[in-house]
Amino acid sequence: MNEERPLFLPVILGTVRKCRQSRHVARFVAEQTGSRLGVETELIDIAALPIPVDDAGEAIKDTGFSEKMQRADGLIVVSPEYNHAYSGLLKHVLDSCLKEYIHKAGGIVGVSAGPFGGSRGIQGLLPVMRELGLVTIFWDVKFSAVHKVFDTEGHLLEPAYVERYAKFLSELIWMSKVLRHGREKVALSQEASMATTRQGPGQPDHLPALRARDEPPCGEIRGVGGRERRRNDRGRDPRNPHLPGMRRCCESHCPGAGGSVLT
Ligand SMILES: Cc1cc2nc3c(=O)[nH]c(=O)nc-3n(C[C@H](O)[C@H](O)[C@H](O)COP(=O)(O)O)c2cc1C
Repeated sequence: MNEERPLFLPVILGTVRKCRQSRHVARFVAEQTGSRLGVETELIDIAALPIPVDDAGEAIKDTGFSEKMQRADGLIVVSPEYNHAYSGLLKHVLDSCLKEYIHKAGGIVGVSAGPFGGSRGIQGLLPVMRELGLVTIFWDVKFSAVHKVFDTEGHLLEPAYVERYAKFLSELIWMSKVLRHGREKVALSQEASMATTRQGPGQPDHLPALRARDEPPCGEIRGVGGRERRRNDRGRDPRNPHLPGMRRCCESHCPGAGGSVLT
């Protein structure tokens, strides 16, 4: 393992809401992270990313964000809780990359106005991160009643969070080092190697092709088990006839897809 090369652990601020309290958390987290020896970080504000909202997945990948995810050894996601979940736009941004995350560490810092520190959002986000290929650590940090934890200028009022975050960060650093070692030094099993694809010059050769997401092109509808659902004459799903045929794109938006106009 090359101990000289610093780990890169970017912090993602996972909300675009005006007046978001999570910005104080993200700043605190980035400061604490950057002050660790051998660690570099950067605060990535999803509000500053030019991510379109008229498409989803790798089709809307932003080059700058993708490069940072590629360089990252681990991710710290600051996730505010909205109606017992993580923010929709956070997921939209995370969904825009895939191979960039594989076999890298991930940790979540929850934020809420209520007493549970965003834990319901954290619980929802964990399987998402796993599906993206990240390896999640077993510590979270939970900022409950966040409006009391920072003053209006973002100064920390509760010093106990320094130690809580230090414990989380130590675990994330350990996992990031181990996974970097694995990505660089440990060959995949024969079975996984058979499904391996080279991602380009200078990129590790161990990324499984299986992780290429089956994102259906516009106009295709996938059902359970990957089978395409049949639709009735009105463009409705026969299994859910009360639902309009919503998932088709219009022909003008996706030329050649043969879809019908969105309803
Ligand atoms: C749409 C919405 C839903 C929310 N739902 C919850 C919730 O379920 N539980 C909670 O403790 N706080 C909830 N909050 C409050 C946020 O957790 C609070 O604003 C906190 O500061 C983190 O979000 P922020 O960074 O946007 O400020 C909600 C806020 C919004 C805007």
